[in-house]
Amino acid sequence: MTLLMTPDKANFSGKVHGGSVLKHLDEVAYACASRYCGSYVVTKSVDQVSFDLPIHVGELVTFLASVNYTGRTSLEVGIKVVAEDCQQLTARHAISCYITMVSVDDDGLPKPVPPLVPADSVAQSRYEAAQERRKLRSEIIERLAEIKKRSSGTSL
Ligand SMILES: CC(C)(COP(=O)(O)OP(=O)(O)OC[C@H]1O[C@@H](n2cnc3c(N)ncnc32)[C@H](O)[C@@H]1OP(=O)(O)O)[C@@H](O)C(=O)NCCC(=O)NCCS
Repeated sequence: MTLLMTPDKANFSGKVHGGSVLKHLDEVAYACASRYCGSYVVTKSVDQVSFDLPIHVGELVTFLASVNYTGRTSLEVGIKVVAEDCQQLTARHAISCYITMVSVDDDGLPKPVPPLVPADSVAQSRYEAAQERRKLRSEIIERLAEIKKRSSGTSL
């Protein structure tokens, strides 16, 4: 998906608002996962998104997405965000992000997704990296639960 960063997406300092980028990331993940599954999908989790470089108003931003991994009912969508200066014709890789989507049935319950068979070595390498991230996510969930338990009642 390619979008022009129009002034309505600006924050107080005139750069593109982080929330605006997050919304587009979610839309791209939805479109990618829904097309792959042929079903309705919902966002389950968004991995850490690090805004290392600002995106400027007037830039053309392309969101490149792929299904990296499938579990039973969930799938990981990887998104690379490329920002292009329309006048200089220079492009830079601004953000990478991983979003887990879950395929759901008419009652909103998880339903199986078609298993991904990596088609080439790039897809295989993405698949293996996604598998490691999936494991890491489970570990983070466990650790966060422990921290929450320890700080009982005081966390927001
Ligand atoms: C998506 C939803 C139906 C899943 O329900 P659930 O009870 O968590 O279902 P499960 O425990 O069976 O997990 C479903 C899948 O999500 C995965 N999952 C669960 N928690 C996860 C997390 N924090 N991060 C990544 N994946 C996760 C599970 O591993 C499972 O995947 P798998 O089948 O490939 O192994 C439910 O959480 C939901 O409706 N959430 C709201 C979605 C939504 O509205 N999103 C927009 C927010 S505004």
